[in-house]
Amino acid sequence: MTEYNETQHMTIRVNGEERRIFVAPADTLLYTLRRGLGLTGTKLGCENGDCGACTVQVDGQPIKSCYTLTVDVGDREITTIEGLQNAPAQAGFHQEYGFQCGFCTSGFIMNTDALIRNHPDGDALGQAETDRDWMQSNICRCTGYEGIRNALAHGRRRAGS
Ligand code: FES
Ligand code: FES
Repeated sequence: MTEYNETQHMTIRVNGEERRIFVAPADTLLYTLRRGLGLTGTKLGCENGDCGACTVQVDGQPIKSCYTLTVDVGDREITTIEGLQNAPAQAGFHQEYGFQCGFCTSGFIMNTDALIRNHPDGDALGQAETDRDWMQSNICRCTGYEGIRNALAHGRRRAGS
């Protein structure tokens, strides 16, 4: 593991653009995205790895940005909700009313988008079990999850058409 001791300049790649930032060793990716780059679509919830509100993608895989150090993702491709362009998952949440307060929504969309792309037909567990397993990493306090499940199904249909 690389050891970082001092605040430093570094370049990160976010939503297809290279951004030059000043980062301290303990800065989380969530902090850098929101405070450093103004990408406030990524939300701060528990800040403890439990709720998924802070989910972004690194090299196409969902990660919790409150739990990720910025210095560890310098050479990776980071995607936030601002970088998704007409993704099927977004349409699903819109069409199926997959949110109420919306606080959890960007994290759910980032996770759902990665699920649809990585497991278009589910994996060895079968689609229903894969979906249940994958979506456990995000918590919504408002919806009861039915709209979210419908949003995922809508996104899958749209991605497959
Ligand atoms: Fe990151 Fe809750 S804010 S998991
Ligand atoms: Fe409110 Fe999910 S819509 S927490």
